[in-house]
Amino acid sequence: MKGAPAPDVPALLPALPGEALHTRVTRTLRDAITRGTLPEGARLPGHRALAARLGVSRNTLVDALAHLELEGYLHVSGRSGTRVAVPPLSAPGAPRSRLPLSAWASRALAGQVQDVGGEYAVDFRVGQSVPDLFPEAVWTQALARRAVSLGRAERPAALQDPLGPLETRRALAAYLNAERGAHVRPDMVMLTGGTQSALDALARVFLEEGRVAALEDPTYAGARAALAATGARLLPVPVDGAGLCPDALPPQATLLYTTPGCQYPTTVTLPAARRQALISWAAGSGAFLLEDDYAADLHHTGRPPATLQGLAPGRVILLGSFSKSLAPVTRSGFLVAPPEVTRVLAGTRPLTDRVPGVLDALALADLLTSGAYARHLRRAALLLRRRHEVLTAALAHRFPDWALTAARSGLHVHVTLPAGLCAADVLTRAARAGVALSPVPGREREVLLAFAQLDVPALRSGVERLAGALGRPALGSGK
Ligand SMILES: Cc1ncc(COP(=O)(O)O)c(C=O)c1O
Repeated sequence: MKGAPAPDVPALLPALPGEALHTRVTRTLRDAITRGTLPEGARLPGHRALAARLGVSRNTLVDALAHLELEGYLHVSGRSGTRVAVPPLSAPGAPRSRLPLSAWASRALAGQVQDVGGEYAVDFRVGQSVPDLFPEAVWTQALARRAVSLGRAERPAALQDPLGPLETRRALAAYLNAERGAHVRPDMVMLTGGTQSALDALARVFLEEGRVAALEDPTYAGARAALAATGARLLPVPVDGAGLCPDALPPQATLLYTTPGCQYPTTVTLPAARRQALISWAAGSGAFLLEDDYAADLHHTGRPPATLQGLAPGRVILLGSFSKSLAPVTRSGFLVAPPEVTRVLAGTRPLTDRVPGVLDALALADLLTSGAYARHLRRAALLLRRRHEVLTAALAHRFPDWALTAARSGLHVHVTLPAGLCAADVLTRAARAGVALSPVPGREREVLLAFAQLDVPALRSGVERLAGALGRPALGSGK
């Protein structure tokens, strides 16, 4: 190589966040070698010239060269100096214009609900967390206690069960049997990262192209997206003023997603006769009923209705979530399914996330068995009831022609607008006045107002702003 022209030494690459100077020099030279700017066999300039070219001290350069020699990119010999020891990486080819996404990923992204974002003086939109529901003291104490004892655990293997720690599954089974009219044994419980992860696990196990999933119309966008991503055909089942219409169920489906306790988003509770019709249909068609019991722990008036699961434990898969009622940052929930289903899920889970958050699960067991969770829910119900009453009273006062669906649980109010008023128009005019509401996709005269995340003055001022935006004359002070 004697006499070969000195290769082009590149300028120092821009620094990455937190990158030390010698690492940056190493990266610059390695990059030039792998791209072929410094070809195999090329002799690098002397230390002094190279350091000057890169704008670094000689020590820094020597450090970087030693590192590259160790990695095998450079060969240093006293006689012939420092030479490049490897050829460039084979050409990576033209950059692809599209990622090679799977059909699942494409469908998942297509079904994603875009958050419209935006800042509003009063934000009634659904889907917000409710920090006031967080039982900070009991939760952090339970976490801290369990963190200490977990560190000393003698048999950590007992915590490796893919369904979640047995202790928590026992506590949940006892809680659901006592409080929710459910029919649960610990081997029927799997702890999840919330309802969404339960839906995903079940959708993967039961659905694929060529199968049918039925779901309420309207329904929860998160459920629709998880089921649709599998490629299964979705069949909507209409919802009326009493909830899902059993007469409209399809003859065949692998599963049906339903919210009988508090229909999302209309908030109605499915009456007993329709529950029985639903179970008969499931027994006849062989479908599983996915009962999303999301609002049970958000009940503000009276007691929550018993679960569908208690009526047909072999046909119903119950989904529960602590994502709203406990800590908004804790993705935590559960599903209850026949043991043959939980056995399958225990087998498929290790492919995705192995064991659920053990520390959260153990803290949850403490809250359930000590009664702290039940006490927390009683306090939460008072807060929710107060906010619900304030919003419904203010709406009834300012919008007597709006029909509010009577709700005993959940975090929002469902409104049917009078003839002549359309939801899109109401949303636009409200937004101009700094108030955000949620639409009900596919329903032109229905809107939703979430109340739980707003305090009483905000609820009242939100309704006043809304009234102003919609040209309702001021009526003196709202209740
Ligand atoms: C109908 C319904 N199901 C379930 C959930 C809770 O889902 P996750 O546990 O994934 O937060 C919500 C929360 O908004 C909901 O509206």
